[in-house]
Amino acid sequence: MAKVIALGADHGGYVLKEAVKAYLTELGYECRDFGTHSEASVDYPDMAVPPCKAVLSGECDKALLFCGTGVGISIAANKLKGIRACCCSDAFSAKYTRLHNDANVLCMGGRVVGPGAACELAELFLTTEFEGGRHEKRIAKIHALEE
Ligand code: RB5
Repeated sequence: MAKVIALGADHGGYVLKEAVKAYLTELGYECRDFGTHSEASVDYPDMAVPPCKAVLSGECDKALLFCGTGVGISIAANKLKGIRACCCSDAFSAKYTRLHNDANVLCMGGRVVGPGAACELAELFLTTEFEGGRHEKRIAKIHALEE
């Protein structure tokens, strides 16, 4: 189970990041918050990189990223080799992106998902393990696309 969680957000996701951080901290997760720390405008690609690098280095187990839609920051995150970021706002996707895609980053939109749903989705994502098996070769094919 993921224990150390990297967090990142732009101004559109800042409030949601704070809500999810409080929830996960209450549950006992260690959250490393890479910002942003206010609603002042910042660029989501800049905010995606440090949390993703923390996952790639092994400093953090997973990352949760937030922007207005969750889409922009997921597009940016997926440019980093080894990152499998899923933007989602429903429980089925949050669960199956772990089971089947071994996603290591979950992205959500502060203008899309409410705090209650976001906290549930984050917990589901962080407690669901990769199924492996037939999905291994598909993940390997995704990695091959990075070469
Ligand atoms: C910022 O206004 C907004 O574009 C950003 O948060 C995000 O929604 C981009 O995908």
